[in-house]
Amino acid sequence: MKHTFKGIFIIMFSFISCISYAGEGMWLPQLLKLLNENEMKSMGMKISADDIYSVNKGSLKDAIVHFGGFCTSEIISPNGLLLTNHHCGYGQIQSHSTVENNLIKNGFWAKNYKEELPNQGLTATFIDYIDDVSTKVLTGIKPEMSATERQSLIDKNLADVRKTYKLEAYQNVIIRPFFDGNQYFAFVTTVYRDVRLVGAPPESIGKFGSDTDNWVWPRHTGDFSLFRIYADKNNKPADYSPENVPYKPKHFLPISMDGIAEGDFTMVFGFPGRTNQYLPSSAISQVLETLNPAKIAIRETSLKIMDKYMREDEATKIKYAAKYATIANYWKKWIGESMGLKQTNALQKKLDYEANFQQKLAADSPYKNLLGELQKLYSDINQYALANDYYSEIALRNVDLTSYMATLRRLVNAYEKNGEAGYNELLLNVKTFSTNFYNDFDSAIDQEKFSALLDMYVKNLDKKFVPEFLQRENLGMQPNETYDQMIKDQYLSSSFTSVEDAMAILNLSPEKAVSAIKSDPIFALTSEWSAFFSKEISTPYNNIRKEIDLKLAQYTKAQMDVFTEKRFYPDANSTLRVTYGKVNGYEPRDAVKYSPVTYLDGVIAKYVPGDYEFDLQPKMLALYKAKDYGAYADKNGKLPVCFIGSNHTTGGNSGSPAIDANGNLIGLNFDRVWEGTMSDINYDASICRNIMVDVRYILWVVDKYAGAEHLIKEMKLVHPKAMPIKKKKR
Ligand code: ARG
Ligand code: GLU
Repeated sequence: MKHTFKGIFIIMFSFISCISYAGEGMWLPQLLKLLNENEMKSMGMKISADDIYSVNKGSLKDAIVHFGGFCTSEIISPNGLLLTNHHCGYGQIQSHSTVENNLIKNGFWAKNYKEELPNQGLTATFIDYIDDVSTKVLTGIKPEMSATERQSLIDKNLADVRKTYKLEAYQNVIIRPFFDGNQYFAFVTTVYRDVRLVGAPPESIGKFGSDTDNWVWPRHTGDFSLFRIYADKNNKPADYSPENVPYKPKHFLPISMDGIAEGDFTMVFGFPGRTNQYLPSSAISQVLETLNPAKIAIRETSLKIMDKYMREDEATKIKYAAKYATIANYWKKWIGESMGLKQTNALQKKLDYEANFQQKLAADSPYKNLLGELQKLYSDINQYALANDYYSEIALRNVDLTSYMATLRRLVNAYEKNGEAGYNELLLNVKTFSTNFYNDFDSAIDQEKFSALLDMYVKNLDKKFVPEFLQRENLGMQPNETYDQMIKDQYLSSSFTSVEDAMAILNLSPEKAVSAIKSDPIFALTSEWSAFFSKEISTPYNNIRKEIDLKLAQYTKAQMDVFTEKRFYPDANSTLRVTYGKVNGYEPRDAVKYSPVTYLDGVIAKYVPGDYEFDLQPKMLALYKAKDYGAYADKNGKLPVCFIGSNHTTGGNSGSPAIDANGNLIGLNFDRVWEGTMSDINYDASICRNIMVDVRYILWVVDKYAGAEHLIKEMKLVHPKAMPIKKKKR
């Protein structure tokens, strides 16, 4: 284990020249010089790896910001103006919306700094520098250690490494495993806490096509919003204060007005969340056969119920907008993922790869039985993985009241552990959380979801995973009776279906509040269910999972040892990465060929007056009619909207800048094509494409649609493709 990480570098370094196709890979910015710079240049990049990541001078990385910890954003002006997706800022846009002043529907444009809207809890995180801490974290680790021994030594080492960092109050150090724990990197970050909403297009632009078009190419969504980072007068992070001033960045991205053409070099810089590139075939077939179908079915049921209520009532539509979009997003992604895996024969390819792996192993290799052992473990975990997903999807994700109870349980636990002091420490947070929770809560919708999903849980899981108190025969119910009445009774007698009653309880003395919470029927049901889950599902699940993780660490290392000609990159883990590719169309099916750019004409072609997904506002139609594209049209006089490329992205890359060969902004990443969403498990250059909004469309909306010229003036617009000798004659 000790030499692992050095070995990885040597392997990766020496085979760089053998790469056959570009696009695959999410690379660490500090290793680009070593691993990728040559290839990037051969693909057309004009800047150096040093211009992308440097700790000694301002570089592109200083403009890349982790937005709220879940999306990416970038600085595009000397005054801390931040560009991200509309769907990334959606929660904030929604939180400032009411039926009378609906920013989701109408958009929002602050005319000056004063009008920019603060967002409690929203953070903007910069990466100051990155350290390789593998040797320190893996000190003392031996191959023969059990999963538990290994983890506890690593935890101890991690704590020691953490202590060596002398940080400012606004800095953090985040240490993450790479290559399934064969390497560790530390990221020192600076976190800004005053991030204000500056502008958002109406959803008819920012969310045009909504769920029908989500994950789909050809796409016509202007998925962007604008925020601004505020700092104290020393340019350092501070809590919100009217005294704060716009942040002065070390670097901001200039914006190219020259657009893109098929084959152009592109690079996407951001915080991809999670991928699993090095899994064995047994894991992929579990996703395909068991887990994806179950999760898709659960979410389908939940979505149908929300949709029914949202179509009936405008206020409900606002209330449930963000929730619906979140649930719908991965529902659709999993469908696309399964489709892509099947279409590209991913499973068979993995099996062939494994046969090859097995064949290449030396007769006495310690890895000989690895794949067989992994297969056995995946088969052992299958029933628990399914039950785990069922429980999490239902109790923690789709039924709101049961997931809210998890918050109350933390409060009760704090009281029981640390008395009033522990309770009071959490109370303010719980109250803020509760206010937000009830703003978006509708008891009738929630009951209907709970009843329908509980029915699926009981029907589709082995009886040993259904607690007795949820089994129909113990509730005096008929074998096929719905859970409607039972859930209704529970909700009726609970105090937590209304904000007033809930707040009344949270305003009691800690002792009385805890006793009221504990005697609430929904709290009791959820607690019992959660205890049952922990004993019967998550404990056995985690025990096997630990073994799997240990074997996966070995398998990842073994693959690197065996396939010395293959270039390895670490799976995404919400750390800063660079991926690069080219503007490129694709052929998803026989006889179908997609070009890489869409135009405003395509937006108008999709227009359905009054539709909840494809409606357009009169101003948009008027601008189109007048062909009022200003400086933002391409050379054929058409206004580009979105484009695709072969950059390897995933969830978390939303809001990432698409950057040209010279380091200028050309687009904003927001999605992938449906068939290509399997790139999380199995990148395939033939159909994996990321979707970006063309930055000229963004500028056009800001300038022509919103009339927010003052924002355009803040930015730096450049013409990298302009030929210096050819002067325009007038
Ligand atoms: N699919 C994109 C992503 O994963 C966009 C999601 C937001 N849009 C939506 N219609 N739900 O985040
Ligand atoms: N929309 C995704 C996000 O929120 C990005 C699309 C993807 O998964 O590639 O990060």
